[in-house]
Amino acid sequence: MATINFGGVEENVVTRDEFPLAKAHEVLKDETIAVIGYGVQGPGQALNMRDNGFNVIVGQRKDSASWEKAVSDGWVEGETLFSIEEAADRGTIICNLLSDAGQIALWPTLKERLTAGKTLYFSHGFGITFNDQTNIIPPADVDVILVAPKGSGTSLRRLFLAGGGLNSSFAIFQDATGKAYEKAVAMGIGVGSGYLFQTDFKKEVYSDLTGERGVLMGALAGIIEAQYQVLRQRGHSPSEAFNETVEELTQSLVPLVGENGMDWMFSNCSVTAQRGALDWKGRFRDATLPVLNELYDSVASGEEARRTIERGSTPGYRKELEAELKEVRDSELWQTGATVRQLRSKTENVEA
Ligand SMILES: NC(=O)c1ccc[n+]([C@@H]2O[C@H](COP(=O)([O-])OP(=O)(O)OC[C@H]3O[C@@H](n4cnc5c(N)ncnc54)[C@H](OP(=O)(O)O)[C@@H]3O)[C@@H](O)[C@H]2O)c1
Repeated sequence: MATINFGGVEENVVTRDEFPLAKAHEVLKDETIAVIGYGVQGPGQALNMRDNGFNVIVGQRKDSASWEKAVSDGWVEGETLFSIEEAADRGTIICNLLSDAGQIALWPTLKERLTAGKTLYFSHGFGITFNDQTNIIPPADVDVILVAPKGSGTSLRRLFLAGGGLNSSFAIFQDATGKAYEKAVAMGIGVGSGYLFQTDFKKEVYSDLTGERGVLMGALAGIIEAQYQVLRQRGHSPSEAFNETVEELTQSLVPLVGENGMDWMFSNCSVTAQRGALDWKGRFRDATLPVLNELYDSVASGEEARRTIERGSTPGYRKELEAELKEVRDSELWQTGATVRQLRSKTENVEA
């Protein structure tokens, strides 16, 4: 662990300096890591661990596009690719990377294969934290750990191939063997994390559900819709409304904020933009604070989990969801986005 100062607050984090890959190999040398589920996180984590030299197998239901993907990624049926049941039988670390709904459905199947001394690994605290709703209650004689990369499995893989890594949180829910901590950190290094920060299962799921419903997706999509609507209703063209709302955000601002921070951005824009943004920032913060607190309460009370599980298991939900997504896709805002992206790639072709 290294103690690092984050804006005046000291935190213990793990980097590859204190916990190099060689140490992770030593910790996991006798383990068979069974990645159960080959959706988005599954491929990212399994391929990174395989390339990092760990003993990895994949468990995926057959007759599925995910099975075909696993085959095309080089997993070999009967050698490194198995049914979920067989992979869970063979694995000593069972990585539960099924969707949250899949984790509920498959829990009895995995539970009976979690024999004493095995490790149950998650990338989300959902199933354990809300176990009054999911029934995911592990046997007492297994380790239960978590490594949650802060981003999609696709980014985890892309960054790994480019020589980088996504930051991940890690947590220990149950330490039956006395080795849960080092296994969690070794898995975090194995999947190709940037740095690792410790959390617990509850904090992981509370922050994750708040983040995706808030700034990362829900709030972002909502504020984009609101600004686009205002500009369109005040007579601006789709091009103008979209470019001032989305295109400049994604193509110019967010990459620069990622590289240098918002503080740098404020200091490196026009005086007009700077004054206006500083003046309005507080108004937007104050307007959204009550909504974000309401959201956190809804996560912490289990209401968000209840709604997710209930909606996901309602017959006909897939159809309703598709209609909801179609409405977003067909909206003038996102149709304009599709056209702007096409024009963007034309410009790239011309320049190439
Ligand atoms: N995506 C992210 O950005 C992200 C980031 C960090 C952590 N996580 C966590 O990682 C875990 C996996 O997430 P994901 O995004 O990779 O999920 P996902 O893409 O939805 O993958 C789902 C996997 O579960 C399988 N599955 C679902 N229902 C099943 C069922 N009833 N029986 C058998 N298999 C079933 C799917 O198989 P089929 O393809 O055959 O349906 C697929 O292999 C979750 O805990 C998630 O919270 C995700």
